[in-house]
Amino acid sequence: MNLNRRKLLSWFGLGWLATLLPSSLVGCSEATPPTTASTASAPESVAAAPNGTFKAIGTVAQLEKDGNLLSSDKKIAVVRDPQDATKLLAVNPTCTHKGCTVKWEKANKEFVCPCHDAKFAADGAVRRGPAEKPLQRYASKIENGQVLVSA
Ligand code: FES
Repeated sequence: MNLNRRKLLSWFGLGWLATLLPSSLVGCSEATPPTTASTASAPESVAAAPNGTFKAIGTVAQLEKDGNLLSSDKKIAVVRDPQDATKLLAVNPTCTHKGCTVKWEKANKEFVCPCHDAKFAADGAVRRGPAEKPLQRYASKIENGQVLVSA
């Protein structure tokens, strides 16, 4: 009789566990915030304008001649991807350390900050401090000889 009661209690215990487990899992999945590419800070992430519009920064001819393009408001810099010259890389050239405008050094294929000498790869990744965060990336493309960026 005593064993039967124990058996019965253990079955009830498992029954409650089986009942609560699925609702607990649902509760956890609802509490998990959605992740989007726009919230990531890694240099691989590319921010796109909320409305997905692209604006012309310059011509491909200018890019080839100068090795880089800088928008008139100095908020966007575009270079050829050193790993694949058929691709473009667009970044915000505002240094993530104290806000100076970084300059493209074609010879070393990197952005250099004139204020405290931080260095960034063409994709915005930090190569040398004092900056700790990468440059913000933007989506870019070429259409009809124009370099277009979504920022
Ligand atoms: S502002 Fe660029 S390294 Fe300090």
